[in-house]
Amino acid sequence: MDERIDVASKAVLAAGSLVKERFGERDGLEIVEKERNDFVTATDLASEGLIVSMLTAAFPDIPVMGEEGGGRAGERLFWVIDPLDGTTNFIHGYPQVGVSVALIEERKPVIGATYDPLRDELFTAARGSGAFLGGRRLTISPERSLASSLLGTGFPFRNYGYLDPYLATFRELFLRCRGVRRAGAAVLDLAHLAAGRLEGFWELCLKPWDMAAGALMIEEAGGVVSDFFGGGGYLSSGNIVAGNSIIHGEIVRVTSRSFTREGVAPLANGLI
Ligand code: IPD
Ligand code: CA
Ligand code: CA
Repeated sequence: MDERIDVASKAVLAAGSLVKERFGERDGLEIVEKERNDFVTATDLASEGLIVSMLTAAFPDIPVMGEEGGGRAGERLFWVIDPLDGTTNFIHGYPQVGVSVALIEERKPVIGATYDPLRDELFTAARGSGAFLGGRRLTISPERSLASSLLGTGFPFRNYGYLDPYLATFRELFLRCRGVRRAGAAVLDLAHLAAGRLEGFWELCLKPWDMAAGALMIEEAGGVVSDFFGGGGYLSSGNIVAGNSIIHGEIVRVTSRSFTREGVAPLANGLI
């Protein structure tokens, strides 16, 4: 096995067991609100510290960029870490949280590992070598009709300025598909899509650590990932649409009508 997947997997497994140990303890949670509706707890920080130390011990020359500030982005090759995805869920004891690590090379994810500690599911991918859930190779859902599709999404809960175009997208897709889920941990939404459990997904204002590992898994499982206009800049814009080629196309037709390029551009996250 590629040593980079091995180390990334061990790091998310170790951090995930720390998250699981602390899950459900509502008393004594140290919560800081970074900005409106954006929280960090002592568990996010402990998880990130653990992952950073494991990655840097194995690969001292590869820089690390963690959500909570551990390290920096390298220009050509660097790790991105979401030490606890679904922090709001974690704070409320809502059982949907993940831990995710990806290696970015030349602005593209090449290694991804995402762990769901509450279901004990480890998703991995390496560019050109497929995506896996444990030992099982993943393939995207073959569903061809939006009417028979289950979609995932995330709400623009930090940037209410996007609510109207988002709701226009939601309305049209909601009326045309079988159901829409908002589970609150994007790294798991994307891993579930790679595993064929969702047919499509869209969300705006995400960060590279929310998307990188899952986007690679989806591509390696045979799916398509893009920004809201069908282009490749989702890691830098934070606006992502994913699915099999047919459902991805259906969603992009709607997002590209509801949003304008100028309208979503100002939030480009500038990290990649
Ligand atoms: C959040 C989750 C959520 C998504 C947010 C993310 P965090 O990550 O992935 O599903 O809607 O935009 O920021 O802050 O819990 O790591
Ligand atoms: Ca996240
Ligand atoms: Ca997080």
